[in-house]
Amino acid sequence: MDLSKAAQDELVLKAQAVRLNAYCPYSGFAVGAALLAESGRIYLGANCESVSFGGTICAERAALTSAVSAGERSFTALAVAADKPVSPCGICRQLLFEFGDIIVLSASAQGEAVKITTLSALLPAAFSEF
Ligand code: THU
Repeated sequence: MDLSKAAQDELVLKAQAVRLNAYCPYSGFAVGAALLAESGRIYLGANCESVSFGGTICAERAALTSAVSAGERSFTALAVAADKPVSPCGICRQLLFEFGDIIVLSASAQGEAVKITTLSALLPAAFSEF
């Protein structure tokens, strides 16, 4: 993977820290995401649930929309932290795919990334044009 160990560790630590801000009264499953833009800036997101469950926003999409709102369009890597290491859901994979392939790190609430992959590996044969 073309991301230094130091950069990986920083991204995972930031995902773990923002995870503590998750609003998840229905699932109790707090998730944090840290998205590294090509600019070098890191954007954070935590999941935000709705009593109308379909309105829930995942940590990954929260981080991505924050970055896009700041004008970012290219990304290098994403770290996701939760009680146990998880991969982005299908909706988040598809939205992230708009912005190209990125490295995806999954970590638990503490400790290093345990799984490192790419978005294109997670979403093969993605729908990308019509
Ligand atoms: N969730 C995320 O934020 N990211 C993921 O990668 C998986 C799921 C959230 C959505 C919901 O608030 C809770 O985790 C349980 O599904």
